[in-house]
Amino acid sequence: MNPPDRDLPAPEGEVVTSKGFLRRFLDTPADNTAKTMVVALGLCFVASMIVSAAAVSLRPLQEQNAALDKQVNIVQVAGLYEDGIDVAETFEAFEPHVLELATGEFTDQFDPYQFDDRAAADDVTLSAPLDDDPANIGRQANYVTVYLLRNEDGSLDKVILPVYGYGLWSTLYGFIAVEEDGNTIYGLQFYEHAETPGLGAEVDNPRWKALWNDKLLRTDDGKGELAITVAKTAPPAGEDYHIDALSGATLTSRGVDNLIRFWMSERGFEPFLERVRAGEI
Ligand SMILES: Cc1cc2nc3c(=O)[nH]c(=O)nc-3n(C[C@H](O)[C@H](O)[C@H](O)COP(=O)(O)O)c2cc1C
Repeated sequence: MNPPDRDLPAPEGEVVTSKGFLRRFLDTPADNTAKTMVVALGLCFVASMIVSAAAVSLRPLQEQNAALDKQVNIVQVAGLYEDGIDVAETFEAFEPHVLELATGEFTDQFDPYQFDDRAAADDVTLSAPLDDDPANIGRQANYVTVYLLRNEDGSLDKVILPVYGYGLWSTLYGFIAVEEDGNTIYGLQFYEHAETPGLGAEVDNPRWKALWNDKLLRTDDGKGELAITVAKTAPPAGEDYHIDALSGATLTSRGVDNLIRFWMSERGFEPFLERVRAGEI
């Protein structure tokens, strides 16, 4: 039976039934274009609500995991990682400080446990654009978080410094651990990048990472020139300053060379490392 016309009175003797919107919608033929559109839009809406709810509810967990991953990497680059250890507990041995790069001095302006290095690099009030930008990072924050590891007697054991820069496909984020002499590398480790597995991603290969151990940043001939180099051949300063480039991944290796030399330069951690070398930390 056709639905009664709302404007006309029902013919005499006919029972009027008023169908609800849902009933009329369900009764519409399945091949009706409007019905198909409404069903598709409804499905999209429900799916997007589920995805949004999942994203919002999982965000704290994701942030917690990212913080833990960073801690794992700091513990690893400092050589304190062992299977089964309580990372959060081991991480308590590290002393975080927010460092003003230009002066090499720590600042109390920010809480080192809350300071977000990446957000600072994007914040126009806390960073500056780079014209000469070998690490390909666009802007450089004026402040970064560094971590100190001390011996039991309170003397400095290592400093853990954040480094990052562009490889071939992605920005590589990592940490370099430098010994208390401010010049000997203990290790380098990246915790985030998107270089190709088997090629650029070999930066994570333990054998390649081991090459960094005991290499020197600056020449110890009194001149203190920045000499650390990632390349296929050793720099003039010699093998003590040479990390062999990854084979088949020259471009990622060049990116690592650029970022390390940038962050270890006067525009990066050199003012701070100078203070480490002077025994001021
Ligand atoms: C699919 C694909 C992915 C690649 N990924 C990387 C990479 O992550 N890092 C890199 O340096 N080169 C990568 N390359 C290789 C570069 O294009 C280039 O050939 C290489 O860096 C040269 O290194 P080599 O001089 O040691 O051979 C990739 C090439 C292809 C085809």
